[in-house]
Amino acid sequence: MFFTIPRAAKLVAAISLGMAAAAPLAACTKAPEKAAVPAAPAPLPLPTTLLEVMRASVEIPADGIWAAQSAEKLEDPDWLLAEQDSIDLANAATLMTLATTGAKDAEKQVNADFHNWAAEIQKTAGVLRDAAKAKDQMKLGMAADHLTDTCQACHDKYRPEIPSDGVSRYPFYPARERKK
Ligand code: HEC
Repeated sequence: MFFTIPRAAKLVAAISLGMAAAAPLAACTKAPEKAAVPAAPAPLPLPTTLLEVMRASVEIPADGIWAAQSAEKLEDPDWLLAEQDSIDLANAATLMTLATTGAKDAEKQVNADFHNWAAEIQKTAGVLRDAAKAKDQMKLGMAADHLTDTCQACHDKYRPEIPSDGVSRYPFYPARERKK
């Protein structure tokens, strides 16, 4: 007798059981209550001018890349340094586009072509990184040439006051010998 529950009653039992099981689920899918997760702190501002970013953060790794490009043979530590330089350059490209503190920086940075040249530096840094990982000096050389062209293109428009002979090496900070 106990086991001969009519089908319809079984069905009802199953449905109500199912609903009971579904109830907590439904509660979970409700829009989450606004609370608890604290807002991430704002990123730190850049405390330097675009000129300082160029001299310290762009020129130095670019110079490392050009040195690797013209080296006769690169040993493993040289490839690692080229990889490091490519990472610094990729990050420096982002710095070019952030709010720097120079009085005339923003009026340059708001332009689409300025932004595109910075993006091209970052893209090229990615190719340089791949080349360094693959220890492919031909690839590194081609990307390094494209890097020079990109620096030059932006300087021609946004730094025209200085007659450009390409991009001068260590215009401000002295060269640091890389230990082998
Ligand atoms: C998106 C534009 C842009 C790109 C790309 C760019 N630069 Fe610059 N660079 C500038 C501007 C603008 C200045 C001048 C800033 C000022 O004087 O306030 C400058 C200045 C410099 C200076 C300072 C020169 C001095 O007077 O001491 C160096 C060095 C430099 N850039 C190197 C490079 C190198 C190397 C690359 C490529 C790897 C590069 N830049 C790519 C915009 C760019």
